Amino acid sequence: MSESSSERIEAALLAHIATAKPGSRLPSTRELTAGHGVSPVTVQKALRSLERRGLVVARPGSGVFVPAARAERPADFSWQTAALGASGALPATPVAALRLGSAEAVPLHSGYPDRALLPERLLRTGLVRAARSTATVERAPSAGLADLRAWFSAELAAQTPAGRTAPTARDVIVTPGSQLALGTVFRSIAGPGGVLLTESPTYWGAILAAAQVGVTLVPVPTDAAGPDITALDRAFAETGARGFYAQPTYANPTGVQWSANRTLEVLRSVRVHGAFLIEDDWAHDFGITTDPAPAAAQDDSGHVIYLRSLTKSVSAALRVAAIIARGPIRDRLLADVQAQAMYVSGVLQTAALEVVTQPAWRTHVSGLRRRLRERRDLLLDAVAAGLPAASVETVPAGGLNLWLRLPDETDLGRLVRDSEARGVIVAAGDEWFPAEPTGRFLRLNFAAADPASFLTAAEQIGAAWAEQQRAR
Ligand SMILES: Cc1ncc(COP(=O)(O)O)c(C=O)c1O
Repeated sequence: MSESSSERIEAALLAHIATAKPGSRLPSTRELTAGHGVSPVTVQKALRSLERRGLVVARPGSGVFVPAARAERPADFSWQTAALGASGALPATPVAALRLGSAEAVPLHSGYPDRALLPERLLRTGLVRAARSTATVERAPSAGLADLRAWFSAELAAQTPAGRTAPTARDVIVTPGSQLALGTVFRSIAGPGGVLLTESPTYWGAILAAAQVGVTLVPVPTDAAGPDITALDRAFAETGARGFYAQPTYANPTGVQWSANRTLEVLRSVRVHGAFLIEDDWAHDFGITTDPAPAAAQDDSGHVIYLRSLTKSVSAALRVAAIIARGPIRDRLLADVQAQAMYVSGVLQTAALEVVTQPAWRTHVSGLRRRLRERRDLLLDAVAAGLPAASVETVPAGGLNLWLRLPDETDLGRLVRDSEARGVIVAAGDEWFPAEPTGRFLRLNFAAADPASFLTAAEQIGAAWAEQQRAR
């Protein structure tokens, strides 16, 4: 009996079993012997092997059968251990802010606003119009639809001071969300083994994007008015970094808005060091008490790569964002976007354009100010009453989040788990630090949950915290 004939008959029987009806009889040993040109001993051996694995049932005197109800055996993926090798650069567990959570839990962890704060009617109309347009069957240009690019550039141009050259539609690249744009920018400026500077704490997605492209993020401390300029200059000089990723407006998670003076100093620093400022203007539409112009409006020499997204202000279902970049970097970024995503669906771009060019869009955005302010203040009050151990370092002038500091003895992981057991989902601040966290923080979103739940939610987190302290 040769090894290969045994394997051959077993493979043939497995193929047969895979499509056979449950409970059906296999061909007899004689039929198998004749059909496959192997000895009866080989056939018997193959059948016994299949029987041991529970894939066939032998009934002496009747024959061999496919089991009536096939036992569900867990699939064996162990071969992938060798194929995958060492674990990748990204954490295997999903980041806290992306968790969907149960319908009953209060989602204070989310990064996106609640449906009640979205221009839902406008968006539905925009999608219907997009569905009726030729965008449904056409391939969009890889840099984006001309009219949408013109809208993005006009938005920045409107805040460009006299005497500076405003960006044009040619400087715009539409991307499927700004998360992909971060990877594109990091790869294009630094690439694997490269270094970029960043504020600390900073957006967890930027930390992941850098890890994915093999870029080391070197943190620069920030205070309530923006980055520490001495530290920024030193970090540029010491690392040779060619870029600084930052959020000058309502930073996620701290809520910090750079002062006008600090913005000018950062621009000076990037110019002196021949570097880029990668400005993530994610909260452009979420001003509460201020209306700052982006740093990019102050730059017409290609030092600022500007990111603006519509996914939070129009809808998380509309993954449309833009990079605005001037000079040769723009072509490098476009080549990367083409390699990653080719282009953004014209249907989504058309719908986005329909929304943001309606007069009702402006009304919606200006109405958001009051609604965000109410929510922010309610959550501040709720935290003061229910979680007095927490301190709020910055009352944000815009954005969606409160950044709370808890006493250093807090066990954050436990607090997150215990709060969730009490029906409140919160995100531990550790995910926002590119290096070691400098304290125990929580980020609470005031735009995602029903404000009526804020007080109870804060009380539940407070009770979980107090319980943990009693158990110490
Ligand atoms: C600061 C910041 N930048 C970028 C993004 C990514 O946004 P999107 O990919 O939805 O445009 C987010 C989302 O949470 C964010 O908070």
